[in-house]
Amino acid sequence: MHQDIERKLYPEAMIVEGIDRVAKEVTAYYKGRDFTVISILKGSCIFASDLIRRIPIPLELGFCACSSYGSGTTSGELKVNFLPEENEVVGRNLLLVDDILDTGKTMNALKKEFIARGAKEVKSCVFLDKPARRALDFEADFKVFEVEDLFVVGYGLDYAGRYRNLPYVGSLKPEIYQQPVQGA
Ligand code: IMP
Ligand code: MG
Repeated sequence: MHQDIERKLYPEAMIVEGIDRVAKEVTAYYKGRDFTVISILKGSCIFASDLIRRIPIPLELGFCACSSYGSGTTSGELKVNFLPEENEVVGRNLLLVDDILDTGKTMNALKKEFIARGAKEVKSCVFLDKPARRALDFEADFKVFEVEDLFVVGYGLDYAGRYRNLPYVGSLKPEIYQQPVQGA
């Protein structure tokens, strides 16, 4: 295990099992309908790529980028960096995919934005759900795991841009996020 990780919460085998379950739910929901998976960068790229490879029905893939965290562990101001082209949104069924639903601000804002841009339907799918931190009324339509109120990293989730490449999810040792971030 990485030296900065305090506790491993979701090992690789558990992640695979959880994604298999959610991929089946998504497949059943969209069977017979066109849809586009929108991966919210950067955090969801690993989850989205594992998820879509377990969905055996036709789908398209798009990306959008949104950042709400600087280098700390609390939510900052939300910044939408880019969205898909108009022809990828108007009249489409979209499934927004994110790494974690925390305060809910990111998903809520993106859902509104996509509806305003003419999407037919917008659903959400998250790898982790941290309900204890929710700041507004938003629930994901599909979720893999519910996580306690801990700052977690790995499997796409970062702290100050690092740890996304860990193949499992773990909580960070408090001394890592209590010390000033180098270069921040
Ligand atoms: P929300 O807008 O507060 O729901 O925040 C969602 C975003 O915050 C996620 O896409 C993550 O990038 C980030 N985030 C929230 N909690 C964590 C965490 O425990 N570890 C890493 N990133 C997190
Ligand atoms: Mg992030």
